[in-house]
Amino acid sequence: MKPILFVSQADTPLPRCLEEVGVAFKLDTVGFAGFTPELVSDCAFVVVSMALVERDDAERLREVFSQVHDVPRAALVDPYKSQQVVQAGSLGLTEHWDKSTSGHIILRKLRSSLKAYGAPELHANVPDATRKGVMEACIAYEGVVLANALSRALPFRQVRDAAFGIAEALRMDGLSVWLSAIQDHHSATFCHCLMVSGLVVQFAEFLDIPEGEQNLLGVGALLHDLGKVKLPLSILDKPGPLSEMEQNLVSLHPEYAQAILDEYPELPHIVRDMAVYHHENLDGTGYPYGLKGDEISRWVRLLSICNAYANLIDTHSGKEGLSPEQALESLSQGKGKLDMDLLGRFRDFILSVPETSSPALLYAKRARA
Ligand SMILES: [Fe+2]
Repeated sequence: MKPILFVSQADTPLPRCLEEVGVAFKLDTVGFAGFTPELVSDCAFVVVSMALVERDDAERLREVFSQVHDVPRAALVDPYKSQQVVQAGSLGLTEHWDKSTSGHIILRKLRSSLKAYGAPELHANVPDATRKGVMEACIAYEGVVLANALSRALPFRQVRDAAFGIAEALRMDGLSVWLSAIQDHHSATFCHCLMVSGLVVQFAEFLDIPEGEQNLLGVGALLHDLGKVKLPLSILDKPGPLSEMEQNLVSLHPEYAQAILDEYPELPHIVRDMAVYHHENLDGTGYPYGLKGDEISRWVRLLSICNAYANLIDTHSGKEGLSPEQALESLSQGKGKLDMDLLGRFRDFILSVPETSSPALLYAKRARA
């Protein structure tokens, strides 16, 4: 995922108006001295702080911008300091953002400039139903992230429609095509959400769960990591292992989800439970509440299995990704934590998924090779 790049005088704290940007977008920072054409080419948008720009800094900015033209950019200025506005103009920065503006406004500006940031580039051979399902699900998930950042109501109707779209894609094209099409999504967070959603919806179909509940399970799966909208994407999509502090922060996401969903008491409890309890274990060793046995519903148990399986087969964050058989074997070691009867059914389900030779699947495999 290409980041938003914030360029400023070294050691300048991140302006308040950009703090929320880091939740919805990956945000990198660099001092004027370290600013290079390569960094610009590798980012989605450049924001330049015009505070404390010395003559050397201005020359470097001009030099770098003269080499890369096609990346959108804006200057963060104090509108009462005309020198900053004039200097931004002289650097070719025609879009000026008031540094005291709210983070919400900055997010809206970035959103309209970058359009569907969360949507992946899918291979041309991905079939129509899967293409539509992936796009709708990505846009719905992005809508959830932005709604949180902008303090708006969560777009539940959009999420529900996206869950229907996933079910339709799976009916038309099957699970293998779904998993293959999304595997190359640039964001590990988006990919995981889509992977778990596909697994949950198709497993529910395999178990003959009634259609209405299947849709709720799809909504719950799309929102299961809802609490992560409170965390910066730079942590969530970090390549390689997290530090202990980062890991502790990520572990708070079920509680964040609970705080968010407390605002929506009308929401079906299945959806809420999936977002809050999916890291609980049957033997009480999970988090955040250490629930045990019957305190964990069948729907949450179903999600926990799909969630753990998705983590094992995923190839993001520098991971190799286990084969389906290896992943099932690894899950079977989790005795006491997962529902073993349900895991047995999950095993039957995964082993019943036909190996497909669809162009989409082949393409994804070749792209990773
Ligand atoms: Fe989670």
